[in-house]
Amino acid sequence: MHVGMILLCWLEIGSISMNDLFPPLSLAAHTPDNSFMGFVAEELNETERLAIQRNKLNNMAVVYGKEASMWKGKATFLTTLHRYMEIHGTVYFETQRPPEVPAFVKNHGLLAQAELQQLLRRAKLFIGFGFPYEGPAPLEAIANGCIFLQPKFNPPHSSLNHEFFRGKPTSRKVSSQHPYAEQHVGRPHVYTVDFNNSEEFDAAIREIMRIDVEPYLPYEYTCEGMLERLHAYIQNQPNSSVLAWASNASDFPSWPPLSALRLVASLEGQSCVEACQNAELFCEPALFRFINIREAFNALDFPCEGLDSEMNHLLPAFSAEQAECGLQQDPLLFSCAGSSIKYRRLCPCRDYRNGQVALCRDCL
Ligand SMILES: *[C@@H]1O[C@H](CO)[C@@H](O)[C@H](O)[C@H]1NC(C)=O
Ligand SMILES: *[C@@H]1O[C@H](CO)[C@@H](O)[C@H](O)[C@H]1NC(C)=O
Ligand SMILES: *[C@@H]1O[C@H](CO)[C@@H](O)[C@H](O)[C@H]1NC(C)=O
Ligand SMILES: *[C@@H]1O[C@H](CO)[C@@H](O)[C@H](O)[C@H]1NC(C)=O
Repeated sequence: MHVGMILLCWLEIGSISMNDLFPPLSLAAHTPDNSFMGFVAEELNETERLAIQRNKLNNMAVVYGKEASMWKGKATFLTTLHRYMEIHGTVYFETQRPPEVPAFVKNHGLLAQAELQQLLRRAKLFIGFGFPYEGPAPLEAIANGCIFLQPKFNPPHSSLNHEFFRGKPTSRKVSSQHPYAEQHVGRPHVYTVDFNNSEEFDAAIREIMRIDVEPYLPYEYTCEGMLERLHAYIQNQPNSSVLAWASNASDFPSWPPLSALRLVASLEGQSCVEACQNAELFCEPALFRFINIREAFNALDFPCEGLDSEMNHLLPAFSAEQAECGLQQDPLLFSCAGSSIKYRRLCPCRDYRNGQVALCRDCL
């Protein structure tokens, strides 16, 4: 395939909650009834890979942000970056250059996909300023041999502290502009640093100018990877009438298979996303129904003085203060995101395939 663009695929076949699971595979899947299948990016052949590496300009940076508003307040970072590199932008404006885009930036205006790709193929660095979150562009830049430099968010962005997430039904905490790139791609292709720490920012740019990287596309973003995932879902998605009986789980085959399940207790104040991540596992909402039982508390040696059932997205969880164990009453509220210092959560973690994190090792 040579489409020179990224395809987005949604698949609405009900169930398997992809919500709060695999950004950016989960982009737009805010509810569990909509499975988002992810992106596909173009794969390069050997000739193209070599040509890209040959034509790279070591001192060329492209800024991620088509709208002038995304550049607002970034003059300090841009000035630092400009000490080392020539900065290119693709900001749209009608007549006058917006004041947010400094004069030293070579602005190309909005580019057609093929032209943007040519720009990325020459650039060494693709830099994000924190917004938009979890878009496909950084993966495309990495696939075209760029290094993606992005801000680490400390504290993480969430519905509590950022307009974008406010009012959305999620308690996800986003640790950087592109957490997938941070956690599953990483160096040398992705640098995630505190942009407010000028020494760290400076050091990252100097290091980036010293190293060479090859174009890289994680398997899950190739056409074959997408088809593998699609196949696994179509073969295995339980239908919604089955889900309605989920509380009587043992009657129904599970997918992902139960063999992948690792029961983990979070620390107080820790979400299941973090608890599983710390164990080098993934939190799998589809497996919550198997751990939403009294026996799970016993298995973790939590001494339940009482056992209640409530509607609260942090449950099942153990409250140390009251020695209370809480089960989830509404299976639609199962969520890996979210934490409270009052609770140690019960987390359904699972292993994952490298390059196809949406699937467990025994999922195929
Ligand atoms: C590599 O891809 C380019 C662009 O699609 C194509 O023109 C070329 O023939 C391919 N080369 C090989 C060796 O397949
Ligand atoms: C830098 O600090 C300011 C103020 O503390 C904060 O608003 C901003 O989000 C920080 N930027 C990054 C990229 O962390
Ligand atoms: C969904 O599951 C129910 C109960 O197992 C079954 O009767 C029905 O045929 C299934 N529907 C589809 C579309 O697979
Ligand atoms: C599970 O389903 C079986 C029959 O399908 C029923 O006999 C049993 O009582 C159910 N168990 C629970 C805990 O609901």
